[in-house]
Amino acid sequence: MQKKPLIAFRGVQKSFMGKEPIFSNIDMEISKGEFTFLTGVSGAGKSTIFRLLLGLEKPDSGSITFNGAEVTAMVGDEKSRHRRSIGMIFQDYKLLEKRTAEDNIAIPLQINGISRNTKEIKIKDIASKLKIDNILKQQVRSLSGGEQQLVAIARAAVHSPKLILADEPTANLDQKMAGRIFDMLTLLNVEGITVIVATHDINLLKAHKRRILLLKQSCLIEVH
Ligand SMILES: Nc1ncnc2c1ncn2[C@@H]1O[C@H](COP(=O)(O)OP(=O)(O)OP(=O)(O)O)[C@@H](O)[C@H]1O
Ligand SMILES: [Mg+2]
Repeated sequence: MQKKPLIAFRGVQKSFMGKEPIFSNIDMEISKGEFTFLTGVSGAGKSTIFRLLLGLEKPDSGSITFNGAEVTAMVGDEKSRHRRSIGMIFQDYKLLEKRTAEDNIAIPLQINGISRNTKEIKIKDIASKLKIDNILKQQVRSLSGGEQQLVAIARAAVHSPKLILADEPTANLDQKMAGRIFDMLTLLNVEGITVIVATHDINLLKAHKRRILLLKQSCLIEVH
């Protein structure tokens, strides 16, 4: 029997406010454990693909499944659980600036009702993995952009999500830090988390040979 994909888009079309669709007839599959780049010019719809996957937007038509469940049909608790099973990373980090790195990383664990002891262990583990143990007690606003992004990655990964979506995670960083961010995402991927990185950072795409999905002229094509 063929293995079920973790993510499947079938005939997905999306438009906003009655305008021309930004894309139509999107078909794609991503298997568990894959590391995929999603690229395309500004406005092509990369962030929209992520929002559809999270169930924050609804497609005009088509089906989106995650782990076999139809995302477009999810409501209430099921939808919340679905969102919690995905770690998000943004270009502008979206951290609580006045709180410490540790407080920020703890948020998904608090939402998931994890006990204090387990919480401490999990934060320690992820901080050591991402080599940010030394900044855990610092206020986020005192950290460099790259350090803030590492904290955001720790927050996205601390509750072992099935999937991490990174939306332009290296856009505000220099090449060396971008490389470090990429290495950390790779490390999480090697440990079993499926990763999709939306980017138009050509350096990143060239430096790392991975599957590339390109949004172009309202279509999604595979680039080899
Ligand atoms: N909530 C919304 N309401 C109206 N239009 C929207 C909305 N969200 C996205 N769009 C439009 O859909 C298109 C795709 O936007 P999206 O943010 O997905 O592109 P992107 O590929 O992520 O771009 P960038 O590289 O600049 O981040 C754009 O034309 C945008 O203006
Ligand atoms: Mg975007």
